[in-house]
Amino acid sequence: MPQDDNCWRVCSRGLYSCHWREPRENKRKCACFWFSVVALVSLLALCWMYVCLIALNDQDDVNWLAFQNLKRWVNWFMVLVIISAALTIYCVLLLLFALFQVALGEQLDLHWLHKVFLFLGVIFIASGVAGISVKWHEEWQTVTLSLQASAPFLQFGAVGALTLLSLFVFRGFRAAKKNWSKFLIAVVFVVVSAAIFLCPLHIQSPCLIEMQELPEKPKLIGHRGAPMLAPENTMMSFNSSLTCGVTAFETDVQLSEDGNPFLMHDHRGEFLRRTTNVKEKFPDQHFTHSSNLSWKALQSLNAGEWFLKTDPFGSVSMLSAEEKKTARRQTIPSLSQLLDLAKQHNTSVMFDLYGDAANITERTVSTILESGIDQSLILWLPPEKRGYVEDVAPGFIQVYKDDDNNNNTRKHLNVKYSNLSMTKISDLRRMNITVNLWVVNERWLFSLLWCAGASSVTTNSCHLLQKLNQPDWVMGPHTYRVIWITVDIASIVIMIGLYIFQRKTHCYCLRKATENQKKNTLSWNEKELSPFLPTV
Ligand SMILES: *[C@@H]1O[C@H](CO)[C@@H](O)[C@H](O)[C@H]1NC(C)=O
Ligand SMILES: *[C@@H]1O[C@H](CO)[C@@H](O)[C@H](O)[C@H]1NC(C)=O
Ligand SMILES: *[C@@H]1O[C@H](CO)[C@@H](O)[C@H](O)[C@H]1NC(C)=O
Repeated sequence: MPQDDNCWRVCSRGLYSCHWREPRENKRKCACFWFSVVALVSLLALCWMYVCLIALNDQDDVNWLAFQNLKRWVNWFMVLVIISAALTIYCVLLLLFALFQVALGEQLDLHWLHKVFLFLGVIFIASGVAGISVKWHEEWQTVTLSLQASAPFLQFGAVGALTLLSLFVFRGFRAAKKNWSKFLIAVVFVVVSAAIFLCPLHIQSPCLIEMQELPEKPKLIGHRGAPMLAPENTMMSFNSSLTCGVTAFETDVQLSEDGNPFLMHDHRGEFLRRTTNVKEKFPDQHFTHSSNLSWKALQSLNAGEWFLKTDPFGSVSMLSAEEKKTARRQTIPSLSQLLDLAKQHNTSVMFDLYGDAANITERTVSTILESGIDQSLILWLPPEKRGYVEDVAPGFIQVYKDDDNNNNTRKHLNVKYSNLSMTKISDLRRMNITVNLWVVNERWLFSLLWCAGASSVTTNSCHLLQKLNQPDWVMGPHTYRVIWITVDIASIVIMIGLYIFQRKTHCYCLRKATENQKKNTLSWNEKELSPFLPTV
């Protein structure tokens, strides 16, 4: 007997199975299998989306890799995020429709088109995971690290989902005919629940501290200036970074043919191609080295138009018409120009050197000394000729890539954020060693490093981080313990309630089914319902 079809029922059935009318044939086993597939792929898609959102901090790495191979700048990472978001929304909706149908006591029958899409989704996610594992292995460290920021909330979410799903598990438990399958369901459910309820015992986060223990906010260092507000490594970029309160400029130095140090990140094969109009100015030449061009030739290149054209961070729309005009006029700056700005604003300067170490070190050091800048404003990173630099310019602050195994002679470190554990950062800070972490763009990561006590971070997004007055969250360990225990208990109470409720409806169904049997008119949906429903 067809039940009264209300709109919701028809919609969810129609979207899930493309059967707008009630199907008749029995496909219970198959439906159950496909329901599990939908659930698993949804979970997978959610995890993948999480990875994408975490990797957003390092989106530049992906785009840079693609640029080196394709010689064309496209924000591939954004494309990836958009596809992943669409996939995740699709899977989750499908799962919700399925759960809705089960709750209504409808038969499940996944349309073949959905099966194809799910299959493609799995392929997409699998290639994404494989791609990261092969080409970008270190990003997994970031994902692990992010759990220190998200784990408490993921646990609350998991408890919520578990509570909701327990309803279906209880139904499945009742529906199971054999004792061993009942036993299996019960064991799996108890183990999973225990793991979810008790995992806060293992959650560690530097932000699980009392508010009054919170260290000072890390200082900001502009990564090539403020590359979201202006074309990277231009005077406009450094000026913009001053307005968001950076205490140091981070940049890259190379040497022109006539020995003038200038600021440019890309070197080797891609030299000048991404950030200047070199292809228009010198269409027939392929420059691969800074010494290929004189300072005069370099100055003739435009270093700002590319920014407006490719919009590398999707941030150009934030610029005013005046700022766009300024951006369009930018050229490659020399190191002396930057040193003048730094001197004027009492801002430190930190840089990498690209080129023949001896030559470029000498030229760079002499340019710095000639500029008359206070030597203590120079944070010297390049390790190659450090001895020479220490002799000629003893006032420079020597900054290292790693600590020297607890000798504590190295007082300043500059490290990739995922290469130091949070406890290591706290330990180093306790020994009065300054720790700068690069490149930190997202709030969650900045918050975590703030809690851990980092001295400063190199960032693309100083305008966002400047506005933060406190980390995303800070919670006293005692408060957290009270919260998670309360949440766990509430969940257990609700589950017990659901179990009892389930029992009652089960009895009611039994009675109804017996009446039906007497009349010998078992309606199809009581006979053929998915195994989540009580059996008779
Ligand atoms: C650029 O410099 C490199 C290294 O010095 C040299 O091998 C190459 O031939 C130069 N290219 C041009 C176009 O001058
Ligand atoms: C420059 O800044 C440092 C701290 O970063 C401060 O100690 C020093 O007095 C400042 N110098 C001037 C001239 O403002
Ligand atoms: C670190 O510096 C503070 C104050 O500047 C000082 O009190 C403390 O003893 C120093 N700690 C170490 C391990 O040197």
